[in-house]
Amino acid sequence: MTKVLVTGGCGFIGTNLLHYILEHRPDWEVVNLDLLTYAGNLENTHALAERYPSRYTFARGDIADAAFVDALFAQHRFSLVLNLAAESHVDRSIEGAGVFIRTNVVGVQVLLDAARKHRTDRFLQVSTDEVYGSLGSQGRFHEGLPLEPNSPYSASKAAADLLVRAYIHTHGLDAVITRCSNNYGPYQFPEKLIPLMVVNALNNRELPVYGDGRNVRDWIHVEDHCRGIVAVAEKGVTGQAYNLGGDAEKENIEIVRAILGHLGRPETLIRFVKDRPGHDFRYAMDHSKITRELGWTPEVDFAGGLSRTIDWYLDHRPWWERIISGDYQHYYERMYTNR
Ligand code: NAD
Ligand code: TYD
Repeated sequence: MTKVLVTGGCGFIGTNLLHYILEHRPDWEVVNLDLLTYAGNLENTHALAERYPSRYTFARGDIADAAFVDALFAQHRFSLVLNLAAESHVDRSIEGAGVFIRTNVVGVQVLLDAARKHRTDRFLQVSTDEVYGSLGSQGRFHEGLPLEPNSPYSASKAAADLLVRAYIHTHGLDAVITRCSNNYGPYQFPEKLIPLMVVNALNNRELPVYGDGRNVRDWIHVEDHCRGIVAVAEKGVTGQAYNLGGDAEKENIEIVRAILGHLGRPETLIRFVKDRPGHDFRYAMDHSKITRELGWTPEVDFAGGLSRTIDWYLDHRPWWERIISGDYQHYYERMYTNR
């Protein structure tokens, strides 16, 4: 058995990664460490706890709490750490950066220290294309570029990447980094572009498009990202960063129109609103390194993946209604009180 720590497993990508690992890696035993912030939903992993009682455990805690993390590592002796726990929303980082620094920077330092002390075989940091900054209309990000983050969120993620680099260089830690573009798919919190627009359209609410809607993101289905994380964990070369992207550059307005078209709702719902401060214009990933070295390529085509995702939100109305009402935040108390 490979003993694996996944952090942030109750969030969007973490939930999908836990499903992927438990299904595709029968010899991996997983502990999910998650603080259950506003973005963490324990309901997402409830079925996993029932389906894989001997291979899956949940631990509620903060990656920035050194004593808690040290005790967890002492108890489990992980051979692999996959760090996904983070504050992840750019708009929230503009409102207040403090919690981004605590979780995304201090939290990573605490995990790196624990990995060192307890001799974890490999540490994988899940990072983002946003650490590279913003592109004009030409070119794509490759791993050799300098880190030029523009938002408090991306600055905190870049700081984490540099800490990982420093622990590799200084302490000889075996660590790797994945940098991925914008994900979409099931379980994404409805504050991010795609689920927000789907949910608003279904509720006949306006769809707020920032600026002129011409900013470009490179979309990847979350299943492709999860497969890439596991590939890098298993085959990546220590000290290396690997870009992952979906080969699907889209202007925001194109996506919003596609969602309305799929749902049969009118384009009059679109409302152009004040732009995000410091809004990065364009992201696009060159993933040729991971394709060449590890044989990974994105497999989900965007049009089909988007349709499936919209249908998932249609089929899981109670899931996002509980989020919007705030009910899901009481789930932990319901699950764990009097147990
Ligand atoms: P998310 O916001 O949906 O989930 C984050 C999870 O981390 C939540 O379950 C939350 O409860 C948990 N968490 C937050 N602070 C914590 C703390 N201090 N201790 C323990 N757990 C904590 O985020 P996501 O979209 O699933 O992103 C996961 C990772 O992938 C992040 O590191 C993010 O930077 C990175 N990433 C995301 C995208 C994307 O498009 N969503 C793209 C590239 C990289
Ligand atoms: P988002 O999903 O927040 O991801 P990120 O900022 O990390 O790329 O936003 C994706 C794009 O959609 C980004 O260009 C901002 C834009 N956007 C809107 O136009 N309206 C919205 O309500 C949101 C949340 C995002």
